[in-house]
Amino acid sequence: MTSLLRRSAVAALVLLLYPFAPSPAPSSEKAPHASSESTALSDPGVEKKIDDLLHKMTLEEKVGQLVQYTSGQPTGPGTGRTDYEDMIRKGEVGALFNITTARQVNAFQRLAVEQSRLHIPLLFGLDVIHGFRTEFPIPLGLSASWNPDLIQQTARVAAQEASAAGVRWTFSPMVDIARDARWGRITEGSGEDPYLGSVIARAYVRGYQGTRLDAPDSMAACAKHFVGYGAAEGGRDYNSTEISEHTLRQFYLPPFHAAVEEGAATIMSAFNSLNGVPASANPFTLTQILRKEWGFQGIVDSDYTALAELIKHGIANDGTTAARKAFLAGVDMDMVSSLYHDHMAQLVKSGEVPEAAVDEAVRRILRVKFALGLFERPYADESKEAGAMLQKDSVMLARTAAEESFVLLKNSTVGSAPLLPLSPNAKTIALIGPLANDKANMVGSWGGLGRSQDAITLRTALNERIGAQNVHYAKGTEITGGTDDQLTEAVKVAEQADTVILALGENAGEMTGEAASRAFLGFPGRQEELLEKMVATGKPCVLLIFSGRPLTLPWAFQHVPAAMAVWFPGIQAGPALVRTLFGDANPSGRLTVSWPRSVGQEPLFYNALSTGRPAGKIDLTRPPRNAVEKYVSRYIDEQNSPQFPFGFGLSYATFTYGHVRVDKTKISAASLNEELQAREPKQSASLSASADITNTGTRPGVETVQCYLRFQGTSVAQPVRALTKFQRISLAPGETKKVTFLLGPSAFGIWNDQQKLAAEPAKVTLWIAPDSSQGMQATLEITK
Ligand code: BGC
Repeated sequence: MTSLLRRSAVAALVLLLYPFAPSPAPSSEKAPHASSESTALSDPGVEKKIDDLLHKMTLEEKVGQLVQYTSGQPTGPGTGRTDYEDMIRKGEVGALFNITTARQVNAFQRLAVEQSRLHIPLLFGLDVIHGFRTEFPIPLGLSASWNPDLIQQTARVAAQEASAAGVRWTFSPMVDIARDARWGRITEGSGEDPYLGSVIARAYVRGYQGTRLDAPDSMAACAKHFVGYGAAEGGRDYNSTEISEHTLRQFYLPPFHAAVEEGAATIMSAFNSLNGVPASANPFTLTQILRKEWGFQGIVDSDYTALAELIKHGIANDGTTAARKAFLAGVDMDMVSSLYHDHMAQLVKSGEVPEAAVDEAVRRILRVKFALGLFERPYADESKEAGAMLQKDSVMLARTAAEESFVLLKNSTVGSAPLLPLSPNAKTIALIGPLANDKANMVGSWGGLGRSQDAITLRTALNERIGAQNVHYAKGTEITGGTDDQLTEAVKVAEQADTVILALGENAGEMTGEAASRAFLGFPGRQEELLEKMVATGKPCVLLIFSGRPLTLPWAFQHVPAAMAVWFPGIQAGPALVRTLFGDANPSGRLTVSWPRSVGQEPLFYNALSTGRPAGKIDLTRPPRNAVEKYVSRYIDEQNSPQFPFGFGLSYATFTYGHVRVDKTKISAASLNEELQAREPKQSASLSASADITNTGTRPGVETVQCYLRFQGTSVAQPVRALTKFQRISLAPGETKKVTFLLGPSAFGIWNDQQKLAAEPAKVTLWIAPDSSQGMQATLEITK
């Protein structure tokens, strides 16, 4: 919610004045080193117009373009401004955010376009994270669909709605790799894998920016938070990070690079310090990598007050130094801190910042404004705003997206069949739990302009499906708090029903998202107690887990027959859940983060390195018998393995995997490297790997077939497995499909000990697998 709502309360005062896709599009992949100019932004005609403007601008007007304010709330150091109107007239503001209606946007825009000397339009931004008014599942849930086309469609709808309200810039996608479920913002990203994260990053950028950035219904994307924010130590938000260059390049940078290659117009620099140098004043990442290596031509915007925070970080003792360090490192625009406004002109006059560098930053900002068509069409069409929201197709897409986000974690047989889907004859259902009838939480954190009144709860949808007389509802307890009487009532209600559906979990606004890290990852409040009482009734229980992250629920996973991760599903939560519970929709979501057994396992991720003493099977019921069992990398009181691995998810269908066939068993590193270094890589496959997948169940289902690689014998140790491709396939009962993965040279490139992407002689294991912990395998060799 949070920041937007937090900030928009004050803003209000100031302002008184689509379907299943079989696999990721091949276009979503390019060799990581391929030429990466964000061509959408470079146009000689526009550069000429920018030159003309730069000639006319005073130093103060130039600095003005680098300045961005929220619509009024004085939070954080140096942010208490309310004099925007005059500043805009004087050309001292380049961008505003958290203004959310066309009328309000136009009112500010008129000041800039009609009353400022050079008529340069403002750029209006907002955190449109998983929808603007039509709220889709939280991004972690969307990522569990493993369906980039679907995600692209959700971003497109978000862009259409937001742009109708005059918002032409979203601070999304968050492409931070997150390996620690304690971190509240894990909810905003696409999980722990750099390959999947890259494919999804591209999908968001394509969706937001459309085919043309200057189309009135497109908005500029912002890949954030550059970089390493997701590695916050201890999972505590805003905390420092230490990430080696190798790990940065191999795991944390690829989704940003993918976003830049896809043409993302902007990047946000992060709050965290990275190896001692705050990310918002880090020349290595902002200038060396982003601009020099990747050729990024768009705007680098700082995160909220991140520049003022350089003082707290301890790399500046005053605002002037903070402004200088951030700017020279590569931050073009100062979000909210006002340090560029206060100090930049003086820094130029004193010679500490070259005016040419300011010109370049202004150029990048104007470039995005031109690219968006703001000079030609600065105003939003107020007459079209209302009609753009919550269109029928958008709402249907929200339902599909929710259905595809659900991850079925357990589904045991009760009687003669798996508990889910529920039998159409299920007579009475006890619906229990604080999230069963809660509209506000369905929207999730960072819910844009999503309104709880737009959300349909599970209770409403279930009543509609089987008749209110057959649904016995009891809240059971609160998310936090709750009384003994509530628990007692829930037990009574459950005892009268055939089946119990439990809707338990977190509070989206308070426990997930920014500044919502948790040290305990169980159910909050008395929900575990409620769960245990429900199981004790002996009724079959279906547990629906509403959360912004994996929760550690070992007792639940042992004792409930069926459990499903449903995240925060968005406005169509109820219908999507009911359709899934009754089998109209078949769950196809797969985890994009490893689901821990205990908090003590965090950070937990599948693509880890082997140690020199990897543990085999761990038996926790007895002490190690000998040195071979003891002196290995393990906990004495917990398994190493996750509760559910990355890539895992069940279906109402069942699938088997046939043997892996590869078209060769030797590939030469030299030929791979030739391709990897080519300016125009041929994109031809270096290896073809295939396997037959069969639906052995009785229902049609979607399987996400995953291809993993491991390299051994390389200059830098490689993960025990790394996802390299995936395909979603639809299979009728009894049907077999051959799935073929064509792996290009980039699949075999590793970041070597020279920090270069290259293929090296290695033993390679390849899996075609239903998740990261199992699968069928083949071996091959990369020769010299
Ligand atoms: C968050 C960003 C967000 C910004 C603007 C910050 O607190 O870290 O992700 O885009 O606020 O609302």
